[in-house]
Amino acid sequence: MKPKIYVTRKLEDRIIAKLEKYCEVSMWDKEDIPVPREVLMAEVPKVDGLYCLLTETIDQEIIRLAPRLKVISNMAVGYNNIDLTAARERNIVVTNTPDILTETTADLTFALLMATARRIVEAVDYIKNNQWQTWSPMQLTGRDVYGATLGIIGMGRIGSALARRANGFAMNVVYHNRNRSPKEEQELGVQYLEWEELFKTSDYICVMVPYSEETKNLIAEKEFQLMKETSMLINTSRGGIVNEDALYHALTNQQIWAAGLDVFEQEPIDNTNRFVSLPNVTTLPHIGSASMATRLKMEEVAAENLIRVLQGRSPLYSVI
Ligand code: GLV
Ligand code: GLV
Repeated sequence: MKPKIYVTRKLEDRIIAKLEKYCEVSMWDKEDIPVPREVLMAEVPKVDGLYCLLTETIDQEIIRLAPRLKVISNMAVGYNNIDLTAARERNIVVTNTPDILTETTADLTFALLMATARRIVEAVDYIKNNQWQTWSPMQLTGRDVYGATLGIIGMGRIGSALARRANGFAMNVVYHNRNRSPKEEQELGVQYLEWEELFKTSDYICVMVPYSEETKNLIAEKEFQLMKETSMLINTSRGGIVNEDALYHALTNQQIWAAGLDVFEQEPIDNTNRFVSLPNVTTLPHIGSASMATRLKMEEVAAENLIRVLQGRSPLYSVI
């Protein structure tokens, strides 16, 4: 008999076909919105495998409802939506999709940095709103990227991919990490700085660490006070790493110059969110890994991880 799985969002046909070859598949395919919690609660007791997205909170309550569950396959690199302690207690394998999205996410991070520095979104709106009357010396002037200092918090896969891009723009790259990264220091010419020094020195700070209890509110009042008035904060990791009250205060009190945000404490946000109406903030709807090729690969790797565990093989990537 084929193992039973539940998939929390409609996937590409090709991926569904791959899953169906090995599994009996039930899927939330009503609309492109997250599966309602009560539906998920009714489905998980029946299945051996769960294929989910970062929009689903897989907590102890869900895991306790699922006595047969052997694997939770998250279609993301981040897995802060899953209670690992509860999964570990039950020996459930948790898998994710790193590596394949590294370059795509670094591209988006750099794009957001440039868009924020050069006020691209404001400039596009300027024409859309019929405000362009003449070329003018200081109109929509932003800040230079080339020659500026980029501070990377977290020199992991995506952090180093970002450093490579920054080198191409002749930026001076500094970083802070739990452990120093001698390989990146040598290969990419990045310089390690102590925590406070990084905030004092950088023109751009990019948050590139995963979300966890240790990184929750990692960047708060103290850090913004250290930052230069001319500096920018870019976050494409997870919202909760940056304290939003402190960030809002810093942006509206000229402690920092601007911010680019692809992630938020609570997602989704809408146009009533306080950051959306600030002219010096570029907001994006969590699209770090959103290239067609990469999202397809993520769907595929998540499917492969799930199938492998159900077949008693090692997944391509596992978290626990
Ligand atoms: C996206 O945010 C991911 O974690 O893959
Ligand atoms: C700007 O367009 C310039 O020619 O300086």
